[in-house]
Amino acid sequence: MTTPRDTREAIAADLLNWIRQNEHSAPPWFLDDGSASPALAEVPAAPASVSAAPVPESTAESPAAEAAADPTFAAACAAFVAETLALIERDGVPPGGSLPPDPLLAAHGGDKAAALAALCAEVLPCAKCDLHRARTHTVFGTGNPDADLVFIGEAPGQDEDLQGEPFVGRSGQLLTKILGAIGYARQDVYICNILKCRPPNNRDPLPAEVQQCEPHLRRQLAILRPRAICCLGRIAGQTLLGTEASLGRLRQAVHFYAGIPVTVTFHPAALLRNPGWKRDTWDDVRRLRALVDALAARQAPGQ
Ligand code: URA
Ligand code: URA
Repeated sequence: MTTPRDTREAIAADLLNWIRQNEHSAPPWFLDDGSASPALAEVPAAPASVSAAPVPESTAESPAAEAAADPTFAAACAAFVAETLALIERDGVPPGGSLPPDPLLAAHGGDKAAALAALCAEVLPCAKCDLHRARTHTVFGTGNPDADLVFIGEAPGQDEDLQGEPFVGRSGQLLTKILGAIGYARQDVYICNILKCRPPNNRDPLPAEVQQCEPHLRRQLAILRPRAICCLGRIAGQTLLGTEASLGRLRQAVHFYAGIPVTVTFHPAALLRNPGWKRDTWDDVRRLRALVDALAARQAPGQ
């Protein structure tokens, strides 16, 4: 009759997990196994047509409305946003973070699109690490130069290497759906990776590759100056934040990169392998959307 305390906690945690995984408040496709979903297979691979693909029904309801329908989640979400805003106020970080604006911005009269195009032209022929030898394309990044939100993945895979654009393969198609579920089209956000070239057989990035490639990402962010960043997967989160913390820990809190709030969630490829994690991803991205909306409202001109 005396259950040890951590056993009780473990049982409670398992039960909570079970309840959450069996509660169907998420958009139905979030609970699908993508491999079996004809809807997913129908989404074309080219970014322009992907964004024209039908948006999941759930977008009709705003993420805020979904959160409000789930009071426990809504409270946790509100606390997360309030805590993040308090940290930003405490540290006095300006919108866009504390990275000095990249010199290319001034060179192009503050035009982010032109500055990014100039940086891209510098990065495409990069030969600082061996990954350039086997690449078809350098995958610089794509999306809205004025985006509030930047998604950062790990490295290009085969489809991305062939097409020269990030997240265009199966994980990319799932990312497009995840974006749609929180009311974004691909062109609303900016999408890139830690590494700009594909590692052989998609192996993890090597420290030397990250070291050579990170300055490209840093300059990209110093032009984009987004309100928030979302890292996709453990490797992207650990690398950007310079930590060995587990994905579970990284997901629990807001982090900062040069003063820009960073959240970490599951990699879409991990969700394709483990659809059971989609429910938690839905919470992560709803919370992220709430944060971006709060930051935009706070920093809107005249407020
Ligand atoms: N996985 C990534 O991390 N990035 C991509 O661009 C595609 C798949
Ligand atoms: N492990 C990872 O590296 N990424 C995920 O998203 C989940 C597990």
